[in-house]
Amino acid sequence: MSNYHIKHLEEYFQVYRNSVRNPEEFWEEIAEEHFVWRRRWDKVLKWDFDAPEVTWFQNAQLNITENCLDRHLDTRANKTAILFEPNNLEEAAQHISYSELHLRVCKMANVLRANGIQKGDRVCIYLPMIPELAVAVLACARVGAIHSVVFAGFSSIALSTRINDCDCKMVITSDGSYRGNKTIDLKGIVDVALEDCSEVSSVLVVNRIGSTIQMKEGRDQWLQPLLDKAKSTFTAEIMDAEDPLFILYTSGSTGKPKGMVHTCAGYMVYTAYTFKNIFQYREQDVYWCTADIGWITGHSYIVYGPLANGATTVMFEGVPSYPDYGRFWDIIEKHKITQFYTAPTAIRALAKEKLEFVEKYDLSSLKVLGTVGEPINEEAWHWYNNNIGKRKSPIVDTWWQTETGGILISPIPYVTPTTPTYATLPFIGIQPALMDENGEEMRENQVEGRLCIKFPWPSMARTIWGNHDRYRDTYFSAYKGKYFTGDGALRDAVGYYRITGRVDDVIIVSGHNLGTAPIEDSINEHPAVAESAIVGFPHDVKGNALYGFVILKETGEGRDRENLKKEINQQITEQIGPIAKLDKIQFVPGLPKTRSGKIMRRILRKIAGKDTKNLGDISTLLNPEVVQDIMDKAL
Ligand code: WTA
Repeated sequence: MSNYHIKHLEEYFQVYRNSVRNPEEFWEEIAEEHFVWRRRWDKVLKWDFDAPEVTWFQNAQLNITENCLDRHLDTRANKTAILFEPNNLEEAAQHISYSELHLRVCKMANVLRANGIQKGDRVCIYLPMIPELAVAVLACARVGAIHSVVFAGFSSIALSTRINDCDCKMVITSDGSYRGNKTIDLKGIVDVALEDCSEVSSVLVVNRIGSTIQMKEGRDQWLQPLLDKAKSTFTAEIMDAEDPLFILYTSGSTGKPKGMVHTCAGYMVYTAYTFKNIFQYREQDVYWCTADIGWITGHSYIVYGPLANGATTVMFEGVPSYPDYGRFWDIIEKHKITQFYTAPTAIRALAKEKLEFVEKYDLSSLKVLGTVGEPINEEAWHWYNNNIGKRKSPIVDTWWQTETGGILISPIPYVTPTTPTYATLPFIGIQPALMDENGEEMRENQVEGRLCIKFPWPSMARTIWGNHDRYRDTYFSAYKGKYFTGDGALRDAVGYYRITGRVDDVIIVSGHNLGTAPIEDSINEHPAVAESAIVGFPHDVKGNALYGFVILKETGEGRDRENLKKEINQQITEQIGPIAKLDKIQFVPGLPKTRSGKIMRRILRKIAGKDTKNLGDISTLLNPEVVQDIMDKAL
């Protein structure tokens, strides 16, 4: 038997060593013993990081939904698969069993097929955190369609860009969504987006809030009547191991968002295995990840990883502040949550509120706490440890990316001793490398550099949809033969990793990746704006917030500055979404530039972060005089 469930530190070291010495044998054993296959692989791994090309479980056949649903029907038919906690208190929680979920996925798959969806077609899912979102994801996988979930906080322009980039034929959405005491008109956003999407021939609409909406004849259909009529069985499409399972967009430092392509077999094996170990999942546990399925965390650790293990996974529709700041803790008590996985930004926001919100509730069911998405600062770590885990639940600080599909560096709870702010040790099979300024790998401990991974792992993204060159240039060209993460990290004396943050122009705001380029493009489209530059600055809740330096055109000079700021943020909200709004906007006469015309963001970052003591040599700038002016008027 393979070490599917690691239980102590020596075992971790032993399994780790084995996994990097004999990766093919190691992953073969995991794949063989813990999953169902329609056809066995011919070869476990083929790879070439120069091409780049990676194949796991070559020529194997499977359907991930048979692993997440069908195979549990013998032993877990009545076990809760999805525990849905609605936004509104007057609505009861729903316990959706494995057999019920299987039925709902089969019906949905029949509806997709009846509406022309075939293997390989792209389907955009733009839904709130309701069970239909998970059902739609799994139904696509069952039909062999490639799902592209777009976070329902994105604007219509961001949505249409994503729909068009991968030519989606269908959009699945809802009439609207609940968010705290507000409702959001999702269908209205979709309608605007689809004015620019000629390929979309069909829109399926979930009735969530019972609002009156426009239904376009011949294109839009209410989903429920179709499900009512649909057959309750659906033979899963047989997929090749390397067929795409989904596309998920993530921001790059330049250009349009990147559609990361994940494939079936490797993704399944790795997310399931990491889920089991990093959350020390046991059969009776009730696991809750607060992420949205619109992000990779939700894909891997709300849907696929937990369901592949036959787990009970919670989906929460609401927000941590509604009806008050005790909501998370209330849900933990109510459903006796055993594993709780959230983002540092949420922890910081909740730590600002009165402790009474926490103390009212019995949190004794908790066994494991997790964080993801951004570095967790020491203060937030201790607050989480003291008040939520009561110093009894280990915190797993999990480092990974949309591109990596699953967690790559993390403690294993009750196995790896934790240290605040450290993601600690590489997970089984993961071979990190820290690179110095000359592009050489630093092999010793107590070093800091750029984080690469030097050997493939099963759930790595295989390409960027429609742009393999960009995939190569972004991830495999900075360091030959290595995957470059875009993050900096240090390794301490015992070999623990601490992620220090992005080293490129991606800024992580409230755990969400934002590229500077699309935000600057959006600002620059404002008629009064000549040019702009965005940097991040430290923010006590969001981790980072955005600071915009904006040069106005002559025609904009006379305008009211406060109105201009509002208009700029409005424009960003419309084109990208409210998450990309700027906290501070400073109008400047110029931007510091190199002689070749490149904006020196380093200087702007220091000014925004009020750290101007050591600006470095600015005499080589094209326009050093603007620096003083920007500093004098900094916000
Ligand atoms: C950052 C989220 C520090 C990092 C799963 C990474 C982290 C980016 C951590 C990916 C962590 C994620 N500690 N930083 N535990 N986890 N990050 O694609 O900069 O939304 O490159 O994936 O988030 O964000 P993404």
